[in-house]
Amino acid sequence: MEVVVAPDVDQFAANWLVEQWDEINALGLATGSTPENLYGWLIQRYYDGDIGFADKTTFNLDEYLSLAPNHPQSYRATIHRQLIQYVDLKPENFHVPPGLTNDVEAACEAYEDAIAAAGGIDMWILGIGHEGHIAFNEAPSEKETRTRLVDLSDSTLYHNARFFDNDLYRVPKQAITVGVATILEARKLLLLAKGDAKAQPVAEAVLGSQTEKLAASWLQSHEACVVALDHAAASELLTRAPAGESVIESADGIRHTITFAA
Ligand code: PGA
Repeated sequence: MEVVVAPDVDQFAANWLVEQWDEINALGLATGSTPENLYGWLIQRYYDGDIGFADKTTFNLDEYLSLAPNHPQSYRATIHRQLIQYVDLKPENFHVPPGLTNDVEAACEAYEDAIAAAGGIDMWILGIGHEGHIAFNEAPSEKETRTRLVDLSDSTLYHNARFFDNDLYRVPKQAITVGVATILEARKLLLLAKGDAKAQPVAEAVLGSQTEKLAASWLQSHEACVVALDHAAASELLTRAPAGESVIESADGIRHTITFAA
């Protein structure tokens, strides 16, 4: 992993993506609070004429089961609000797992097939959950998992209740999510984390053993994974890392670089 700590991590991440824009055909998108400002920067760069989406394909990581596509809290509606409505992505190139389906298994298979048909994902943008999930890969999520139906953890239900008028009972209990293997097959990965609530799972993901108990830890095995952090999200990691070191080693002996962006 390449860990980068940046004062304005959204702008850092946007610049980093824009630098590689021409190499990205299929872009994987996360939903949630974390990437919202990053998407804001991408929209800005789109309006500035630096990037376009007309020749891109996008795939979202996950979707709540049981929410209609136009439900305001569905991830389809959310990513549309946060990014898609402002850019020139072709509707046929916009993919989100279905929230409503009569055949979950077939829908999951079709999603994997669509990713393969697009030539695989060039870049997934990822967030991290409070207990270390990536997409909705809750514990336990093995490295070999693929797109599937999952039960959301109590922690996820609790944290996502804020999008449902703080009513825990209105948060969908299940989701369709791409798997850990679906994520690890991408050519590049960008894990973005902000705020001190993410400091603990980030430190465990980077420095702990790779384990199904914390899906983000599997990212250690990817050859091209950038972990972009603000200072708060990096705080626990920096406490555990030897002072001043530019290389840190995980419990599995995997070496990660750590740099500080201006
Ligand atoms: P958040 O969610 O960006 O809303 O904190 C991240 C996640 O659950 O992956």
